[in-house]
Order: sequence, then structure tokens, then C-alpha cells
Amino acid sequence: MQRIKDVLTLPSAGAAVEINGWVRTRRDGKGFSFYEVNDGSCLSGIQAVIPGDLANYESELCHVTTGSSVRIRGALVDSPGQGQRYEVRADDVFVYGMAPSDYPLQKKKHSLEYLREIAHLRPRTNTIGAVTRLRNSLSYAVHTFFQERGFCYVHTPIITASDAEGAGEMFRVSTLDVENPPKTEEGRVDYGKDFFGKPANLTVSGQLEGEAYAMAMGRIYTFGPTFRAENSNTARHLAEFWMIEPEAAFFRLADDMNLAEEFVRYLCAYALEHNGEDLKFFNDRVNPSVIANLENTASQRFERISYTEAIERLKASGNNFQYPVLWGMDIQSEHERYLTEVIFKKPVIVHDYPKEIKAFYMRQNDDGKTVGAMDVLVPGIGELVGGSEREERADVLVSRIRECGLDDSKYWWYLDLRRYGGAPHAGFGLGFERFMLFATGLQNIRDVIPFPRYPGNAEF
Ligand code: 4AD
Ligand code: MG
Repeated sequence: MQRIKDVLTLPSAGAAVEINGWVRTRRDGKGFSFYEVNDGSCLSGIQAVIPGDLANYESELCHVTTGSSVRIRGALVDSPGQGQRYEVRADDVFVYGMAPSDYPLQKKKHSLEYLREIAHLRPRTNTIGAVTRLRNSLSYAVHTFFQERGFCYVHTPIITASDAEGAGEMFRVSTLDVENPPKTEEGRVDYGKDFFGKPANLTVSGQLEGEAYAMAMGRIYTFGPTFRAENSNTARHLAEFWMIEPEAAFFRLADDMNLAEEFVRYLCAYALEHNGEDLKFFNDRVNPSVIANLENTASQRFERISYTEAIERLKASGNNFQYPVLWGMDIQSEHERYLTEVIFKKPVIVHDYPKEIKAFYMRQNDDGKTVGAMDVLVPGIGELVGGSEREERADVLVSRIRECGLDDSKYWWYLDLRRYGGAPHAGFGLGFERFMLFATGLQNIRDVIPFPRYPGNAEF
């Protein structure tokens, strides 16, 4: 048995081959049929010529439908047809399973909205197949990048009792009976009787635990699912998404920005080098600037400006934004995209944000107003990466936690990291699906993860 990808790259025709896959289309000639077969190994399918003299031709093979699964044995021959190098001249065809006429993926082009309703079948389309191969390839690239640079892969927990972002957007993990929870004497839900003896949640970030390991291993990264119960029904947010979070001891903000830039550029170059066929498909069929965006990002230095400068540039632009531009505001997606798409026309790293709009763990600058945060913004997406230097001074951190209305006793172990051999350190998080949007040119984040989770939807 061979994969189509390997067959199509053979140096010459002649070999006996066996292909297993799904029929995309059948066309009939006089006394024979053509099948276009795809097996997921690459975007291209292979054409098979099914002669009418095969024993099961009349009874079965001339009725094979779109979506049926088949095994085709035969000879690989040079194809006389346009646009394909080889085809298979079948001498034995076995039908594993027919797809009846209600098969939801008929030959016509389906909308991405429709495909989301059949997420279990959509990997059989060209678009989602290409997304899936690219996702696989980029996951491998993530590990290659960090492994080559001496970062240690750490598996941080999915279930946690701490809120890493302090934003309270967590999904509760509990085995209590929601209809009839145990109550304390004061009449409140008694989490002491819950599975973990206290409230627990799905993690919003592996960062805090990642910091603990960075304080021993020096350089670590995580790559895993994270969960946010923010009710943002946007094309850029998922309730379950994958994040890559490196954390490095003795790194300052500038080192962190260098690492993030190198990482993003590496991923772009990797996709261009390894996923040419799928990227060409996205460029031709989805968004004509995908390849140019990847090339531009891979080949040039990112712009770096402070938040304060970014606000000045946005004000000076005279553009009429939906959210007015004021120092201290959270930079909205419209501003992010204006900076990267209109003003600089390339990726931009914005650094040193007002502390009020950033998480409690970010290191305070001497001006007392800003923190050592940085976001990487890219065209078409806006925020791709969020990171910072961490507050390593225990006393400053405690007062920040309190200022943010959080309970410092819950962060006891996180504070220990500062009390016992604390050191400067920094890290960031890259939203994997945001990068997938950038690399595919697709518009909706629900199309770049196999089974998207968003408000009102956890089907499949
Ligand atoms: O900026 P965020 O919230 O940063 C953190 O979680 C830090 N703990 C990271 C760190 O310093 N270790 O999220 C990081 C990135 C964002 O820039 C964005 O790309 C992505 O995660 N992201 C989401 N992606 C999809 N759906 C969501 N709901 C997302 N929220 C954040
Ligand atoms: Mg962020």
C-alpha cells in the first residue's frame, strides 16, 4: 500500500501500486470510468482508470459514488491528461464502503458555514484537508524551533486552581451535583466536598506553572490547549484554543521580543518551505496575499514601538476609529490592524503598556505607570502574541496582586518563586489558531481547529 503523495513523487511510471482512499468524483466514458481518489496525504488526488472488463464493474464499480472508500491496485502510468503526471490503470478495485446519495459533501463547493455543521466530515474537503496538514506541519515546527534552541518541553496542567490571567474567564471543573450541591453552614456551596477540596478550573494559560519550571530548567515551553469562557463570539476567539508559551530565566523584555520575532519568522519560513502545495491552494482559492504575507514576515525585521508612541501614531493618523484613541485605553483590534496594516505594513511589536490594562504578573517599569509587556501584531489578524517580562520582586508583586483585587494567599507558591532564588525572567504566548489564520488567509478561527468550541457550540 502506498500513499498518494509518495506515488505522485516517484521518478518514473511503471510500478505496481495500491492506493487506498476516498473517491472525490467519478466520470464515465464508453465502457470505463475515471475515479479521482484522495487519501489525505496531499492536496492532489490521483486519477484512476477503471476498465469495464473488471469482474465487479457492472455490478458495483460503475455505480461508485462521491465519498465511497476504495482500494485500487494497478499500474502507475504516465497520464495523457492535462495537469497530472501519473494515473493508475486499475486491474483490481475493492469497494470498502459506498456513500449513499445523501452524502453531505457532494461535488459542488460548500460554504465554510455549512462545513462547520458537518465538522466530522469536513476534513474530506480540500480546504479543511489543507488546514489539517498545515496545522500538523506547524506543530512539528514549534517543537523543532524550541528544541533546537535548548528549550525544554513542559506539560503544564489542564486542571488548575489558579487564574493565570486574573481575568476570571474560567470554566469550572467540578464533580458536585449542580442540581443539589452540598452547602456550608452559611448556605454557600461547599467546595470542600468537591473533587479537589476547593474550586478548580480549566487553565487559561500554562504560564504560572511554566515559570516554576523556567526557574529550574532555565528555558521551557508549553504547547497545549487552554480554555477561556469569555463570551466573545468573534472570528478571532475560541473557548478552547492551543497556545505555545515559552518562558526563559534571565530574559529581559528585549530578549523576549527577539525570541517572539524569531519564532514567528521561523514558522512562516517553515510553512513556505514545507507546505508549498497547500499554501498555493490558500493563495489561489482563499486569499491572494497569503504567500506574500508569509514571505514578508519571514524576511524582514518587525517594527518595534512603545504603547505611548503607538497611541501618538494612531492619533496623528486622523483616522476615525470606532473606539477613540486615548492614552490608557486598551488597544482595540481596529487599532492593532491599523498599526500593522496601514501605518507600518508589516508586523509590529508594541511594548510597555499601561499597567491598568495588563495582567498582575507583568514587571512594573520605573515610571510607575507602565509594565514591561509586549504584543506582536500582524496584518489581517491583529494580536498574535502577548508576553512580558515578569515581576520578580516579591513585594512589588504582592501589592500588584492586591491592587488587581486578587487574593495573594492563593498565589503562595507563585510568590515562593520570588522568595527562593528569584531572578528576572520573561515569556510570551502565541495563539496557535491565530497563526493558522495568518498562514491560511481564512477569516474565521472556527475553520482552523478541527472541532471548534465557542459560545453555544460543543457539538462533536
Ligand atoms: O495575551 P494572552 O492572554 O497572554 C497569555 O495568556 C499569557 N499568559 C501568555 C504568556 O505570557 N505566557 O494570550 C496569548 C495569545 C494571544 O496573543 C492570542 O494570540 C491568543 O493567545 N488568544 C486566543 N486565541 C484564540 N481564542 C482566544 N479566546 C484567545 N485568547 C488569547
Ligand atoms: Mg493579550
